[in-house]
Amino acid sequence: MRNILDLSGKVALITGAGQGVGKQIALHFAEYNARGIIINDFNGERAEETARQISEEYKDTEVIAAQADVSNWDSVRNMVDKALDRFGTIDILVNNAGNAGGTVQDVMGMQKTFLETLPEEWEKWIGVNYYGPMYTSRAVLPSMVQNQYGKIVNIISDAGRVGEPKLVVYSGAKAGTAGFTRGLAREVSRYNITANCVALSTMNTPGVAEFTNNEEILKKVLKKYPIKRVGEPEDAANAVLFLSSDASSWITGQTYPVNGGYSFNQ
Ligand SMILES: NC(=O)c1ccc[n+]([C@@H]2O[C@H](COP(=O)([O-])OP(=O)(O)OC[C@H]3O[C@@H](n4cnc5c(N)ncnc54)[C@H](O)[C@@H]3O)[C@@H](O)[C@H]2O)c1
Repeated sequence: MRNILDLSGKVALITGAGQGVGKQIALHFAEYNARGIIINDFNGERAEETARQISEEYKDTEVIAAQADVSNWDSVRNMVDKALDRFGTIDILVNNAGNAGGTVQDVMGMQKTFLETLPEEWEKWIGVNYYGPMYTSRAVLPSMVQNQYGKIVNIISDAGRVGEPKLVVYSGAKAGTAGFTRGLAREVSRYNITANCVALSTMNTPGVAEFTNNEEILKKVLKKYPIKRVGEPEDAANAVLFLSSDASSWITGQTYPVNGGYSFNQ
């Protein structure tokens, strides 16, 4: 039987892949035979540990760690240059780094109404969730154009589709990434490059464990979900794998909700 999700020969850069959804995407890509995977995270130790774990499990995939802050253009350019030197190509770019900081404290820190925040607090949310995907895309695209091949998948949030109180700046940044993806998709399809988004809702990851491990909060959250569980990293990685494979070659500029039915697309 033909494996339509096979990634043999492909090299992928996944941002924020040291833990949570990004780590599971990397595991999926290795399981589906990717030739190379670059595990980016701004927490270098986390990236190294994840790269080591995946290398041990999947001997045929070359997995390397790349410490870089995706909200910093120089840091992104340097990472992409090094990755291209090593692998010669980046076929798949998954912009997964998000939230801001990657600790429970950081996520709790954003639980404020818009009026309780000041512009200086917005920067980090806009930096990682909006500038991040633009910086990495800008750095990777010249090589994708040259190779006449590319898959870009941006992880956004249903907060960006329906709006979320106390996550207002984050909602805007994620919605911005969806708009960026649509515009980019129109520009680059002539080079055989697709760009799509996956919009997640509440996921079981270290970044939001404070919420998902609290039974009282969880009960309230799940009232909004037709499917009565939070998402697992596998749920997200399944959709990302599809959009990163040639099985999705006639799909571009779209946003796919993976959200237990929290919201619906028309
Ligand atoms: N967890 C959820 O409930 C949820 C819901 C909707 C959308 N999302 C989105 O899904 C994606 C993954 O979320 P998660 O819960 O797995 O995240 P997480 O917080 O568990 O992990 C994110 C990783 O990204 C890294 N990171 C953060 N900022 C970075 C930066 N500037 N540069 C490089 N790396 C950086 C962190 O160090 C961390 O290892 C994010 O884009 C997030 O916004 C998550």
